[in-house]
Amino acid sequence: MSGHGTPIPMTSRPSGPLSGVAEVPGDKSISHRSLILGAMAVGETRISGLLEGQDVLDTASAMRAFGADVQDLGGGDWVVHGVGVGGFAEPGQVIDCGNSGTGVRLIMGAMATTAITATFTGDASLNGRPMARVTDPLALFGARAVGRAGGRLPMTLVGAEEPLPVRYTVPVPSAQVKSAVLLAGLNAPGQTVVIEREATRDHTERMLAGFGAEITTQETAEGRVITLTGQPELTPQTIVVPRDPSSAAFPVCAALIVPGSDVLVPGIGLNPTRAGLFTTLQEMGADLSYENMREEGGEPVADLRARFSPDMTGIEVPPERAASMIDEYPILSVVAANATGTTMMRGVKELRVKESDRIEAMASGLRANGVTVEDGPDWWRVEGQGAGSVKGGATVASHLDHRIAMAFLCLGMAAREPVHVDDGGPIATSFPIFEPLMKGLGADIVRTNR
Ligand code: S3P
Repeated sequence: MSGHGTPIPMTSRPSGPLSGVAEVPGDKSISHRSLILGAMAVGETRISGLLEGQDVLDTASAMRAFGADVQDLGGGDWVVHGVGVGGFAEPGQVIDCGNSGTGVRLIMGAMATTAITATFTGDASLNGRPMARVTDPLALFGARAVGRAGGRLPMTLVGAEEPLPVRYTVPVPSAQVKSAVLLAGLNAPGQTVVIEREATRDHTERMLAGFGAEITTQETAEGRVITLTGQPELTPQTIVVPRDPSSAAFPVCAALIVPGSDVLVPGIGLNPTRAGLFTTLQEMGADLSYENMREEGGEPVADLRARFSPDMTGIEVPPERAASMIDEYPILSVVAANATGTTMMRGVKELRVKESDRIEAMASGLRANGVTVEDGPDWWRVEGQGAGSVKGGATVASHLDHRIAMAFLCLGMAAREPVHVDDGGPIATSFPIFEPLMKGLGADIVRTNR
């Protein structure tokens, strides 16, 4: 849904201990892919635990516009009747992907090798984000894109009539770009090869294999070489979506910084391409443990237990870990402000082109709340003064970015004075139950009309 409703100002006050069980919603990346691949299979795909955040609901609407039958059965259960690879119909309306870069980029890939035309738009955040990173490789298949200056949405994509398979080295570490190319490769004859120098989340590869596509991954000196054989018939699946580690990050990190806390976050997807934050927190000295490790639906899953950790220290986060925790740097910087010493984060240029410029959004909001932060084009550094040292008291802008809003609300739980967020509305894109869930653990978050 493009545009944005009336801003929802929120305030987070210093709270007592957080305790209890935090059942966070389904994984956003896996939810988008379940709907898109379900729409590209022939027959009925059943999904349980789907994230019903606005980003994913927008992808569900888009799949309907492309001809799939997508039904919400209630309680996170969904069913998709797919139209098959190459079976998308031309949408009769503009495809509005709201706030979601994943939604628009994956859907563009999925339609790029079918001879149909579609126009895409989004909210002010999405319409400012770079799309050439997907339309450049999609042009190699024979698709044509016309958008605004700098390759921005709104944009019309004309799918290739006679698609060619592609060999493409992804120039930036991006699972969205990799996935767009793989989804386009589904309707190209022959083998499409994607090479990534740094491993990014591999849900698309895992799920394509699950739907019966022929796909292999080889680790080589060039990087990860992923080879997909085009024009398979995808077999519908039953998918159980694990809970989102990127959403779990918020109650986990809040528990680490609020005195006396002890929180259990069950059933979290711990795919190694997503779990970098938890390794980093353990290196900082966090009291974080994995319980009941298991595998569900082809993804590793565990229960996470986080307890207040007053003695965390700043560390240098290895740049090669960035892709596996790219969405978690905002909340990591909040933990870093409550640790002792410097936390240095390098190799994170991609943070500047997320739902907001996340380095700028976090650095300016942390500074306003009394934290020392320095930043450069692809790095930033937070000076922590120890548990409970953050002054707080400022109002910060969320810049239409759910993770910025949630990170600052967590900061307020452990600061000396309340932290105010100008608009918590974007939280609904990925974690619609954030507010009641955190309050249920003991957080003091209120909606404020300031
Ligand atoms: C995602 C990939 C990442 C991540 C985003 C979800 C995905 O983006 O930031 O939240 O589901 O593929 P990039 O591909 O731009 O790194």
